[in-house]
Amino acid sequence: MSDASARRSMDRNEQHRIVSGAPYDEDVQIEASVRPKRLDEYIGQKRVKENISIAIEAARSRGEALDHVLLYGPPGLGKTTLAQIIANELQVPIKTSAGPLLERKGDLTAILTSLEGKEVFFLDEIHRLQPAVEEVLYPAMEDFRVDLIIGQGPGARIHPFQLGHFTLIGATTRAGLITAPLRSRFGIVHRLDFYEPEDLLIIIHRSAKILNILMDDGGAEEIARRCRGTPRIANRLLRRSRDFAEVRAAGRITRAVAQEALAMLGVDESGLDEVDRNLMLALLDKYGGGPVGLGTLAAALSEEEDAIEEIYEPYLMQIGLIDRTQRGRVATARAYEYFGKELPKRQPRLF
Ligand code: ADE
Repeated sequence: MSDASARRSMDRNEQHRIVSGAPYDEDVQIEASVRPKRLDEYIGQKRVKENISIAIEAARSRGEALDHVLLYGPPGLGKTTLAQIIANELQVPIKTSAGPLLERKGDLTAILTSLEGKEVFFLDEIHRLQPAVEEVLYPAMEDFRVDLIIGQGPGARIHPFQLGHFTLIGATTRAGLITAPLRSRFGIVHRLDFYEPEDLLIIIHRSAKILNILMDDGGAEEIARRCRGTPRIANRLLRRSRDFAEVRAAGRITRAVAQEALAMLGVDESGLDEVDRNLMLALLDKYGGGPVGLGTLAAALSEEEDAIEEIYEPYLMQIGLIDRTQRGRVATARAYEYFGKELPKRQPRLF
């Protein structure tokens, strides 16, 4: 399977998960309405926010463009939101594209040459740029230059074209796949982490208020507990809980309503869904807790390796159910406890 078709199949599988960090079509609209516009409205990610705030202030006071920014971390944590906030705080326009959309060098060149002044160019999924396209970015980021090829064949000439001092904001869920030459051209690099429960509570209450959703503290706590540290999932579970509250309860999301609504969606009290449980049970039962290679695990689950590594594992590792080791994936003692299984006595290693 080609990389692109593997990706499409992963995207298709992801679309069916209520706890996917990848955006559903309906998320896009809703997020636009609840998305914070200013840095001081952006909740959580304290260290990232402080650093970016200083960089923005310094760039503004020097009258310069902000250095290029690379944001990485699991999907749904607010990389796009942060890019829009940065442009907003800099009071410059923003143009947006994504790695897989730029199939030819010309696609990227067309955007770069259209950037005005100190505009922000947000490039999502930057790890998925074609190598030839990525090479166009190097002189653009470093010297604000693109080399236009005029004419064809032996008569073709290179015509350097000077760009404005734009700011590239690259986003990726897979920092490990960013090439060294690309990474070295970013002056500001930050990883977004899963959100703390207290930050999620504030985000959920804020969204409920904007969307006129009736909810009490208990309801918010249940959603916060089950959203995998991810605001996009929190906002989605909030909407599904509202549906449930309107149809089956008195229209208000209480703790009991949220519990029932989310259980009906197959989301357990830690935010695990069927796919996570299948993965963990394969690891625990079929492979004796591991270590098992990523490829073997992917084949056993009929999932893409990419999806396991990028989407399922980060959260399972975060809550301490799985470890990545040199020899493969292993279930932790906590995983045995979580699934009500007895911890096997390890065979003494002879060699
Ligand atoms: N909605 C989604 N992410 C958010 C964040 N970090 N702060 C406030 N609202 C959000």
